[in-house]
Amino acid sequence: MMSLSHLSRNVTSSLQKVAAVSQRRAVSTSASGFDSIGVIGLGLMGHGICQVAATSGIHSSVIAFEKEQKFLDSGKNRILKSIEKLVAKEKMTAEKAEQTLASIQWTTDIGALNNVDFIVEAVIENMDLKRDLYTDLGTLCKPETIFASNTSSLSIAEMAAFSGREDKFVGVHFFNPVQLMKLVEVIRTDKTDAAVFKRAHSWVEDIGKVAVSCGDTPGFIVNRLLVPSLMQAMAMVDRNDATVKDIDISMQLGAGHPMGPLHLADYIGLDTCLFIVEGWAQKYPTEPSFFIPKCLKEKVTAGDLGRKSGKGFYNWEGDKRGDPVA
Ligand code: 3HC
Repeated sequence: MMSLSHLSRNVTSSLQKVAAVSQRRAVSTSASGFDSIGVIGLGLMGHGICQVAATSGIHSSVIAFEKEQKFLDSGKNRILKSIEKLVAKEKMTAEKAEQTLASIQWTTDIGALNNVDFIVEAVIENMDLKRDLYTDLGTLCKPETIFASNTSSLSIAEMAAFSGREDKFVGVHFFNPVQLMKLVEVIRTDKTDAAVFKRAHSWVEDIGKVAVSCGDTPGFIVNRLLVPSLMQAMAMVDRNDATVKDIDISMQLGAGHPMGPLHLADYIGLDTCLFIVEGWAQKYPTEPSFFIPKCLKEKVTAGDLGRKSGKGFYNWEGDKRGDPVA
């Protein structure tokens, strides 16, 4: 198995050679025509987006931005670990791994994004933070730069208004784990320019994903259907209708889902689930499917956030799920 340090060493030595190859490919293979792109935020979703964009080989550079060095390092480490896994399982060649890493430029300087063609933002779901970010990007980036948010539940139109370029703003909603999940929802607002939307849609396909189109509606397609079903599973726990294990086994073996709903909620993060549904419940108080189950609120209040904290509906050891919490 190729080690992380070995991968990093190889990358450094082949950096220039590979960058030149990528540059040539960028012009010829991309329908979207985005030569350089930026990814803002390298957390759970952002690191995966950065990785799949770099792996596609269609960009001369993928600029990976995090505000603080420690978050940049942790995003880089996540990408290295994922690539190491793919190489070990022979799902990626060592050459492709080097090429992928060589096309990523790591930075804590937001000014490095001023000339990119396309930006995907995957920072935490806080509208105040996004308002400041898009206000800055709107003045920093060249006028042609197209902005895309990976938000799972916030309004794309609201963010677009902050950016000062509503016609050049879309949503691109990826799924976790980004490296494995094929779908990306591409979201348009009433003000998104048709040609901009088409390019963003093409980009999703250029990087090897399947694109679907949706309007700027809460949860888009998947989360609008998925999140209420997770809440229903939690309501069953609240009512003591069935055990956590039996609810999950039922949806796996009776409905063919890869993970049961409570397992999946732990996997996504219970804080993320609560954030999504709280926002919707507040904004759409008459929609009956947007409600907050008692057990969800209690677990998040107790700091039991699922996989990321080691305990949620299940106990977790790293990425490995253990027994249900008694
Ligand atoms: N990078 C590289 N490889 C990875 C990886 C990663 N990040 N994560 C897992 N893998 C590899 C594993 O090593 C494994 O390789 P192998 O088959 O060669 O052994 C392979 O991928 C399969 O992984 P697992 O063995 O862990 O297990 P599964 O077969 O169960 O597949 C899964 C994992 C694809 C996550 C599957 O369980 C699944 O589809 N679960 C549902 C996920 C889902 O619904 N996601 C959407 C969540 S909602 C969302 O994201 C929206 C947001 O807005 C809330």
